Amino acid sequence: MAESIIVQLSDLHLAAPGELPYGTDTAGNLRRVAKALWAMDVRPSAIVLSGDLSDRGDAASYEQLRDLVAEELDPFGCPVLAVLGNHDDRLQFRRTVLGEEAPAEGVDEPFTHVLDLDDVRLVLCDSHWRGHVEGLLGEAQLAWLDEQLAGAGERPSVIVVHHLSVPRGVPRADDYLLEDRADFAEVVARHRVAAVLCGHSHVTTAAAWAGTLHAAAPAVAFQLDPSARTGGRGYEGTGFAICTMRDGLAVVNAHLLPDPGRELFDRRTSARP
Ligand SMILES: [Fe+2]
Repeated sequence: MAESIIVQLSDLHLAAPGELPYGTDTAGNLRRVAKALWAMDVRPSAIVLSGDLSDRGDAASYEQLRDLVAEELDPFGCPVLAVLGNHDDRLQFRRTVLGEEAPAEGVDEPFTHVLDLDDVRLVLCDSHWRGHVEGLLGEAQLAWLDEQLAGAGERPSVIVVHHLSVPRGVPRADDYLLEDRADFAEVVARHRVAAVLCGHSHVTTAAAWAGTLHAAAPAVAFQLDPSARTGGRGYEGTGFAICTMRDGLAVVNAHLLPDPGRELFDRRTSARP
């Protein structure tokens, strides 16, 4: 039986080594996530990084990303693919991570990927919109997406994109959604799309949208506090999502890791309810 396992790590918010964005060791969180995946004995078919790779889009943060991918993710032996979020800087990413010599200022092409796994076509879109917190795919990328989805053959597709197309629910933070989500929905609904995997949310969400599953992963960097009435307040904690494709069906599990040092209990033997 064909099975593909897509590990989604979102919202890494990396900074220069030693810097702690929001007082959080975001690099340490990525290391914890990699360690947890090894402990779970997960064998990913692909690892996707769904945006906000960097917190401020500076070169040092992308050097940190490059080093952490090499140390922590490449050993899984599968493709590691990244798209950008609103915190990223497209030119700096291209220079530092892709090693492009000196792309001319003003070159602002979206950064996309297509990867065919045994039973699923993975399509990664780039919703980074320079100068905006909201996301945008744009006409050209939507036309490209339409072609990629049409070319998937018998396989269903899974789309990865940073920005959400539906509000995140609770906590009620400002959502800064994908601006052209109505056009995106039209394209998605025309094809066999098993799931749309998003980041940006910093809280797990799942919704039925455009005839498919629209799911947002927890963040690697920090989570949004559901008790914060004003929204936007974060709390420590790291997590990731795993999308398992089996028989054309996408099942998404969100994993939040317990605080370091916190003891887990055995629910079969524990007296705890
Ligand atoms: Fe983020």
